[in-house]
Amino acid sequence: MKVKSLKQAKLLDKKVLVRADLNVPIKNKKITDLTRIKELKPTIDFLLKNKARIAICSHLGRPDGKPNKEFSLKQVANALAKTLKVKVKFVPDCKSANIPKLLEKLEHKQILLLENTRFYAEEENNDKSFSEQLAAPFDLYVNDAFGTAHRAHASTEGVTHFLKSYSGLLMESEIKAMAPLLDSKKLKKPLTVIVGGAKIDTKIGVIKQFIGLADYILVGGALANTFLLAEGFNTGKSLVEEEKIDIAQEILLLAEKKKTKILIPGDVIVADKIEEKAATIDIPVEDVLGKMMILDIGRLTAREYSSVVHKSKTVILNGPMGLYEMEPFASGTKYLFKEIAKAKATTVIGGGDTIDAINKFKISPKKFNHVSTGGGAMIEFLEGRILPGIVPLIK
Ligand code: 3PG
Repeated sequence: MKVKSLKQAKLLDKKVLVRADLNVPIKNKKITDLTRIKELKPTIDFLLKNKARIAICSHLGRPDGKPNKEFSLKQVANALAKTLKVKVKFVPDCKSANIPKLLEKLEHKQILLLENTRFYAEEENNDKSFSEQLAAPFDLYVNDAFGTAHRAHASTEGVTHFLKSYSGLLMESEIKAMAPLLDSKKLKKPLTVIVGGAKIDTKIGVIKQFIGLADYILVGGALANTFLLAEGFNTGKSLVEEEKIDIAQEILLLAEKKKTKILIPGDVIVADKIEEKAATIDIPVEDVLGKMMILDIGRLTAREYSSVVHKSKTVILNGPMGLYEMEPFASGTKYLFKEIAKAKATTVIGGGDTIDAINKFKISPKKFNHVSTGGGAMIEFLEGRILPGIVPLIK
C-alpha cells in the first residue's frame, strides 16, 4: 500500500491543515502518556523546515457533538509546545473566521492548535458543508492521525474532498510497519500473534484474519476465559462472555483446519476478590471452581508463551494478559512483555492498555520495532480493512 507522502508536496508558504490524533490519556488533568504527541514531531519538523504555515486539528475524547471544557484541546497545548519544541497558539474553535489571519501572522516556529473538532456533531456525521468550512482557510491537508484513521469523519475523510491531501510521516511509518504483516510473501515466519484484553468481540476480526497466516496465536486476558469455557473448563466467577462461546469454538476449529496453533492458558492466577491486597494462587485451569476469578495467566503459561515468542521471527502484540493495573495480577503481563522486548523477532505492538502496561513496567518503547499509536485503528488495519482515513491518501 503506497500513500501520497507529505515529502512530495510543495510546502513553501502553504497553509497546511494537519489532522493529528491528540486524543491522549488524561488523568486528574495530567497527560499520562505522550506517545501520540512525540510521534507527531517528524511531520511538524518537516513542515516547519519547508516553511509551511501549520494548524493542527484533532479530537479529544467523546464530547458528543457539543463544546465541553473537560475535552478542550487547550489542555494539550503546553505538552504540544514542549514536546514538539514549537510555540503554540491555541484557537478556541476549529472553524473560526479568524484562522486565515492567524495563519498569516504566525511567527517563526509557531503553529496553531484548533479546538476539538468533536465539539460539532457535524464532525462525526462527516458533514459536507462542515468539511468545506474546515478546509476553507487552507491550501493543503496532511493526515497524520493513524489512531483515528478507522473513523470516516469530517476531519479525517470529509476535508479530503476539498483539499489536496497527503499522508503525514507518522501515518506513513504506521502503514510501512503494519502492511507487510498482512502479506504472506513479505512476512518473516514463524509469526506469533498475541491477543489479550477483556473482550473477545474486539479481537475476533484480528484472530480470524491471522488464522492460516500466523503460526501461533497466544490468547490471554479475560478473553481467554471464553476460550476456556468453550474447551469445557469451569471458569468459576471469572469475567466471561457466555454468548460468545460459539464464536470461540468456531475459531478453535478453524485454526485446527488451517494449521495455526491457538494457545490458551494452562495455568492461571486466581483470587476471590479484585483488590490491591488480594490473596492469589497459581493453579492449573482444571482446578478453577466456585468463587474463583481468573485474573492473570499463570507462571507456566507465561513461560510457555515466552518460549513461543523466542522461536518466532515476527511477533504482533495487542492487549494485556491479565488485570495488570493491580499488583497481584500484573506478573503474567509483566513477564511476557519483558520477554517480547528482549526477543530477536520483529515486534509490532499497540493498543492503549499495551502502551500503558509497557510504561507501567518501565519497558522502553525503543525495545520494539514498532509501537503503533492506534488502538481501534491498529486492530481494524490488522483485520485487513482499508481504513477510511487512509483511502484518500492512497496513490
Ligand atoms: C483512539 O484513541 O482510539 C482514537 O483517538 C479514536 O478515538 P474514538 O474511539 O473516540 O473514535
